[in-house]
Amino acid sequence: MRISDKALTARLKELEVELRPNVSLTEKTSLGIGGTTDELLLHRFDTIPQVMWLLADERIPYKFLGGGTNVLISDGELPWVILHLPATRPGMRIDGSAAYVDASADLGGMVTFCAKSNLGGMEGLIGVPGSVGGALRMNAGAYGTQIGTHVREVELYRASSGEVETLRGNDIRFDYRHTSFAPDDVMLRVKLELPSKPYQEIVAGIRVCNEKRRSSQPLNQKSAGCIFKNPPGGSAGRMIDELKLKGHHVGDAMVSDRHANFFVNAGNAKCADMLRLIDDVRARVRAAFGIELENEVIVWKN
Ligand code: EPU
Repeated sequence: MRISDKALTARLKELEVELRPNVSLTEKTSLGIGGTTDELLLHRFDTIPQVMWLLADERIPYKFLGGGTNVLISDGELPWVILHLPATRPGMRIDGSAAYVDASADLGGMVTFCAKSNLGGMEGLIGVPGSVGGALRMNAGAYGTQIGTHVREVELYRASSGEVETLRGNDIRFDYRHTSFAPDDVMLRVKLELPSKPYQEIVAGIRVCNEKRRSSQPLNQKSAGCIFKNPPGGSAGRMIDELKLKGHHVGDAMVSDRHANFFVNAGNAKCADMLRLIDDVRARVRAAFGIELENEVIVWKN
């Protein structure tokens, strides 16, 4: 989608929104899949409500893209623009045992930043790619850590009220890869409360997690992490592996030969290839185990 109206472009500029025309989302996603559209970089939190009213008035559909690490996007010209909160450095500060972190900050960067102040508990999240905002929305987790455990407050833009609000951690539900945030809530900042731990101990924990991840996941290939959620008490990766589907592919969309719940873009995969592969594997798991796997990856279709 293209924003070409001069008056609208000028108004966006006044609100400190930077318009980047014709951006290819293959460059913005860890899967390297996605079509083209205009991107709006929102440089200020306080103008977000006005930007959203403006887009609604002008009937411009939009989607918020964070780190782009857990999303599968259609190919071709997209019928919505992309909104993005650019990261500011450092985008985080510590006050006692609390960390205040911008949603646009890098998740791994947050873990190491907090470690330097002897604040731990998030070692398992170190290799999870993506932004803090995306991690909050999905309640990202790995190796026994989930970000939701440490959340005390979230500042967000609520599309339903048109305002920036602060929610208390206790008022948010954090479940397995699911939260009670509304789909159109926009994460802005989070306050985390973290246990104190000596830096060296945190670093040792980080090393263990990094090693486990390196030995079991295809880190040097384009992927969106795990494609399916694990079913209660089970493992999607193990079931797909048992069906001998590692290496199974549709075009360049392939089940990783390292971890069967990672589907990789082995070249020039299209969104349609990846969707067919997902449906095919889901059907085979259903037929063999009677279990319906649910997507973990978020799909943005046209
Ligand atoms: N397994 C296989 N074959 C495979 C993959 C796994 O047999 O190809 C077996 C493993 O040997 C193990 C079991 O399945 O016995 C579970 O595997 P693993 O420890 O790799 O964990 P997972 O359940 O597949 C989850 C998260 C990952 C997270 C790891 C580590 C989900 C869907 N996945 O994977 O998160 O990194 O645990 O905590 O919850 C993600 O969310 O995108 C993600 C990658």
